[in-house]
Amino acid sequence: MVVTPWEVKGKIDYERLIQEFGTQPLTEQLLRKVAKHTDGLHLQLARKLFFSHRDLDVLLDLYDKGVKFVLYTGRGPSGPVHIGHLVPWIFTKHLQEKFKTRLYFQMTDDEKFVIDDEAKLKETMQFGYENALDLIALGFKPENTYIIYDVQDIDLLYDIALEVAKRITYSTARATFGFQENTNLGWVFWPAIQAVPCFIHKKLTGENVPALIPAAIDQDPFWRITRDIAQKLGYYKPAQIHCRFLPGLGEGGKMSASEPESSIFTQDPPDVVKRKVWNAFTGGRPTAAEQKKLGANHDVCTVYQYMLYLFEEDDKKLAERARKCKTGEMMCGECKTDLTEKINKFLIEHRKKREKAKDVIQEFHIKR
Ligand code: TYM
Repeated sequence: MVVTPWEVKGKIDYERLIQEFGTQPLTEQLLRKVAKHTDGLHLQLARKLFFSHRDLDVLLDLYDKGVKFVLYTGRGPSGPVHIGHLVPWIFTKHLQEKFKTRLYFQMTDDEKFVIDDEAKLKETMQFGYENALDLIALGFKPENTYIIYDVQDIDLLYDIALEVAKRITYSTARATFGFQENTNLGWVFWPAIQAVPCFIHKKLTGENVPALIPAAIDQDPFWRITRDIAQKLGYYKPAQIHCRFLPGLGEGGKMSASEPESSIFTQDPPDVVKRKVWNAFTGGRPTAAEQKKLGANHDVCTVYQYMLYLFEEDDKKLAERARKCKTGEMMCGECKTDLTEKINKFLIEHRKKREKAKDVIQEFHIKR
């Protein structure tokens, strides 16, 4: 298993990640505390898709005492957005609505340029624009959603980035991120930039409040170094809530832009979605006869995972699907057809909203 901000592969053991990264599991007690503020639990919490955190309890205690918080999340625009990226964004929107709080969203066009020898800055900046349309299509509102495009907005970020960078040694950065002799200087400095939106609210408003960061757990190394220096700079430590990875459609692993057949992109037309789902890895048996007799295994099935994460919101229907799978009453083809329909229905609507987002995207650009 490899889980870094730039590479995720192998069979992911989430319990082990909690141990190795030193995060906390999301306990039932903490979930109850969240539910108190959110009129019940969001599906992604109830289904344990978000599973780990840092200081969420501290953040909620502060909230109860009247200290508000801001939300912070982001995207490295190396290419088009896939459905996995939407998982933490959908949850972020839920939190934003329930807690009525501002979101800072960082578009790291600079990161994707420095970490990839082949990348062109013009292209990562263009993907920044394209990816922002996907974010806006999810229904965020410009009044409280502030998108930061690193290259364009570096003047706003730079002083805080310097304060951060000055307090993190190369040996800490190397131990955290695995930098090598041949890692370029841009990349070595870059993590200071991802720390900045944790703190930017104070610069913009004068209000010192903590940030809560919903993201998959691959981003956690950034927060480790940021939390170490936050208080030295007079800020709260940022809190995190971590989700699992929506798996690729192949056997195991993160969805990767370099393996386009294993991911569904928001721009994929219906026939491409159909092909990808049709080729997906399932827990099915080699023949229909065997499946009818022995049943299949939904636990390892990527089609089932897509239903669980995003496409079957009704718990009873999901449980019924699992039951029919295990008992051999349902064949993989039926599930694949259902999923294809659900994804295409969602994406057709998403793309309409994405088109409309072009008219309002400027309103989401961080207001200074
Ligand atoms: P990036 O572009 O790799 O990923 C964007 C967000 O999507 C999450 N993610 C996934 N979530 C569920 N299932 C998946 N298969 C999956 N793949 C990726 C990532 O954890 C991330 O939340 N450096 C960052 C950009 C960034 C950022 C941030 C992200 C800047 N500031 C603050 C989160 C929070 C990046 O390249 O993300």
